[in-house]
This record gives sequence, C-alpha cells and structure tokens, in this order.
Amino acid sequence: MNLRNLFRKKDIAAIVAEFDRTEALHTTGGLVRNLTLRDLTALGIAAVIGAGIFSTIGNASAAGGPAVSLLFVFTALACAFSAMCYAQFASTVPVSGSAYTYAYTSFGELIAWIIGWDLLMEYCIGNIAVAISWSDYLTSFLSGFGVKMPMYLTMDYLSAARGHTAATELLAQGKTLADATPTVQDAYAAWQQAPHLGSMRVIADLPALFITMVITYLVYVGIKESKQTANLLVLLKLLVILMVIVVGAFYVQPANWSPFAPNGISGVLKGVSAVFFAYIGFDAISTTAEECKDPQHDLPKAMIYALVICTILYVTITLVLTGMVPYTELGIGDPLAYVFERLNLNIISGIVAFSAVIAMTSVLLVFQIGQPRIWMSMSRDGLLPQAFSRIHPKFKTPSFATIVSGMAVGIPALFMNLTEVTDLTSIGTLFAFVLVCGGILLIDHDQARLPGTKGFRVPYYNSKFVLPLLLLLGLVLALYFNAPGVKQFFSLGDGINSGWDVVKHRLPMYGFLVVCLVLAYYAFTRNLSLIPVLGLLTNLYLMTELGITNWSRFLLWLALGLIIYFSYSYRHSKLYQNK
Ligand code: ALA
Repeated sequence: MNLRNLFRKKDIAAIVAEFDRTEALHTTGGLVRNLTLRDLTALGIAAVIGAGIFSTIGNASAAGGPAVSLLFVFTALACAFSAMCYAQFASTVPVSGSAYTYAYTSFGELIAWIIGWDLLMEYCIGNIAVAISWSDYLTSFLSGFGVKMPMYLTMDYLSAARGHTAATELLAQGKTLADATPTVQDAYAAWQQAPHLGSMRVIADLPALFITMVITYLVYVGIKESKQTANLLVLLKLLVILMVIVVGAFYVQPANWSPFAPNGISGVLKGVSAVFFAYIGFDAISTTAEECKDPQHDLPKAMIYALVICTILYVTITLVLTGMVPYTELGIGDPLAYVFERLNLNIISGIVAFSAVIAMTSVLLVFQIGQPRIWMSMSRDGLLPQAFSRIHPKFKTPSFATIVSGMAVGIPALFMNLTEVTDLTSIGTLFAFVLVCGGILLIDHDQARLPGTKGFRVPYYNSKFVLPLLLLLGLVLALYFNAPGVKQFFSLGDGINSGWDVVKHRLPMYGFLVVCLVLAYYAFTRNLSLIPVLGLLTNLYLMTELGITNWSRFLLWLALGLIIYFSYSYRHSKLYQNK
C-alpha cells in the first residue's frame, strides 16, 4: 500500500467541468432539478427545528437556567462560521455528497472516507433519536384523547428493563409503585405486560419503526413529493412556534430570570450537546446540490437564512420558557407542552404536542433525504458497492440507498435507548464541521486548485493578529470566570483522582489547546482567513465539552469505518482503479 494513495484528491476543476456538462444537457445523472431558494430554506428549517427545541432543551434549561439562551447564541455563531464554509464548498463543488465531497477535494481520500462515515452516523443515529422522540410525543398526544397503546409496543427494551429494576428495588424497600416517577411506572408496566418469546420479552418501539417506514416510502417515490411535504410541515411548525412565543410572552414573570445563570458557566455548558443537537440539520441541505435549480447561489443563502431564523426563534423560546416557570421545573421531555399545561391552558398544550410530532416528522424527512445521497456519492467514487448509486428509473431517486437508510434507522429505533444517541449525533456533527472549516483553510491556501468560482466565497479577514489576541482574551476570561475547562486542566476533583483518569478526561481539552497554539502560529505566519479558523476552534471547543465517554464511542465508530475502508474501499476507489 502506497501511503500517498491515502491522500489522493479529487480534482475540483474536473468535478465542476462534469457539473457544467450535465448542466448543459439538463440532466444530472438521473436526478431532477427541482429545488428553489425558498424550498431549500424550508428544507433547512425542516431539518433544524425538531426534537432539540421540543424536548432536549428541557434538561439544558434545568441545568443552566435562563442563561442557556446565551449558549444558543454562542452555538449559533459556531454554526454560522461552519455554514459559511459549507456554503463556499457547496458553491465551489456543487454536487451531492456535502462535506464528504468537500473533504475529497481538500484533504484527500482517507479523510473523505472518515467524514462520509461520520456523516452516515450523524444522519442515521440522529434520526434514530428523532424517531424515538416522535414515538414518545405521539403516544402522549394520543393518550390525551384516551387512546392507549400497550406500553411494551411503544418503548425500547433497555428503558423497560431499567425501569423494572428501579421499581422492583422500590417495592423491596416496602414502598409502592405510586412512589415511583411516571417514567418508571410506565417501564414497569411495559415489562410486566410484555409477551414472552422463549425467555425474551417482546418489547419494541413500533411507532418509531412505523414513522421511519412512512418517511422512507416518501423519500423513495420522489424528491418533489418530499419537497412539498417538507414545505407544508415547515409552515405548520413555524406557526405553532410563533404561537408559543406570542402566547407565552403574556405569562412571563421577569422574576424567573433572576438569577440568570444559577449554576454558573458549568451549568450552562451541561447543555452543549442538547443545544447543538437543536441546530443540526442546516448542513443537510447541501446534500441536495444536484437537485437545486441554482445551487451555487441558493445553497449558501438558504443555509444562512435557515440558521438566522432558527437562532431568533430558539433564543426567544428559551427566554419565554424560563420566564414562564422556574427553570428547575423544566427537566422533562416535553417542556413546551408542559409550561402551558401548568397554566391550565390545555388546548394550547395539546396543539404544542401535536406540532412536536409534525416538527419531528420533517426532521426525519430531511435526514432520510440526506443519508442515501451520501451513500450514493461514496458509491459513485467506488468507496461503496455500486448498488448504492443506483437511480430508480421511474422515481429518479437513489432507490437501493434509500431502502438501506430506512432499515438502518427503523430497525435500531425499535430497540435503542434515547439517552445516549443524542450525544453521539452531536459529537459526530461537530467533527464534520471542524473538518469542513479546516477544508476551507486548505483549499483557500491552495488557490491554484480553485477554478474561477462564480458563487459564494467566505469573506476574508486576516487572522494574523486577531486570532492570537482572541486566544489571549479567551484565556484571561476563562481564568477570571474559573471556567470548567480551566478547572479541569489544572485540578483534580469531581471523583477523578488517579493520574491516568486525569489525563484521560483532560485529553480533549489538551488536544484543543494544542490546536489553538498551532493555528495561532499559522495565523501569524500565513495570514489565515479568520472565519474558518474561528469555525474550526469554536466547534472543536464544543466537542471538548462532550466528555470522554462520547469521544470513546465516536472513535470506536471511526475505527469500524477504517476497517471497511482498508478492506474494501481503498482498492475499489475510482481514483485507485483509474491511476
Ligand atoms: N436539529 C434537529 C432536531 O432538533 C436534529 O431534531
């Protein structure tokens, strides 16, 4: 194996020439150009507003208080830097494949494979999380009308087993089930009522599988139908969110905003994964580049529009929520419905629960559109078997890849537990953002490889002095506020006592500081562009806040990907075959 082959790059000029050729023929390998700026913005919002704002924001607010609204602003900045980098790539390399294709042109094949594999995790595990949340909201919405499905058909095995253990311990202490939380009571009921198959209990989340199948069917039969559905869902979801904000604003009691950050910076930072999860999705629209009417102009604009709209809504909703009730009450799965229920506004609470189901449906839709298009791009390059790039003769969609994507989400959603899948999605996506920002630094540096682009470029500001100064300022502020990162770096505690434990838990932070120093050096010596540098650092910082367990799982996923790359993709790569 020749090491240089691992970094073989696709030629941007060749991709653009191919794009122009198909453009002239009004065909793009079978896909149809249907999407306008409005559709793309709607698709962006469709992918972004979902389980994050309807569900995970609850725990984030309970840990951080009203100040979580500031975390939304910081995270939006990190996303905006990344969106600009995505936009430049989408403009320069206007083909399906998103960050995967971008990495192939800037870093070369191995990193492209890693990022493609990582995106599959983002879309697949992210959608498993959303399908499970969808099922939770649907069952609680239906139970409001007296429709009750058997618990063992709406829950995953692990949750039921854990709940059963907790309830049994309670009973052993002489207490009753009434002393348990509603979640534990449900899990206990599921375990007790479940039929047996041999020694196993049959416990599975059927609604999660059901919605995945419906969405997969929609995506299979065509992008046009998917687009129309997404537009409709987005409209409904925006109306309901605006209603929450407007009605909720009348019930805000400013006293609830004080103290603004009751648990300090560390409390706010506990919400990183949940808050970031709420933003994931604007990047997914770049996978539809071959189905856009004018990808070079519309994709960048749509991403930024979607991000700006969602940020305004998120910050406002967080302030309204934490203003309506004390933040301590928000540590629940359906905070938006809860605040109205608590004020006895049951109709509004019902509408919110219904719209959560709608919102999550549209997130599922966009990710199920994105996932097969990544499989397809990787397959076209020879890194995956050819079947993945097969286009359906009638529906003009990547048919085989769409079905595989549906199974990859639907089957695990039957059995998997929600708690940890969100974190895994966030770390995977942040990693993709880091690489996309890094990719822009590389191709900008390598101007000779850039064709005369007609589209969007990230505005250039010299980071020579700004970056070192910003890093210095960051350090001073971190020391002044005694931020958790600094504490972690210098001290033990938090139950972490042995030497190896310290090093292990600090590794992401050590890595971050090394990257800061290296980038500051290159910023000073090579006048790097400021926006991608800030994008890279802010996203990497958010990654360091996600804890070593998530890092380990993420690295395990990447290791599995590398095994596939070296045993199959390396030799089947088109660049290898054509050399
Ligand atoms: N941003 C998407 C959601 O919150 C993934 O559901």
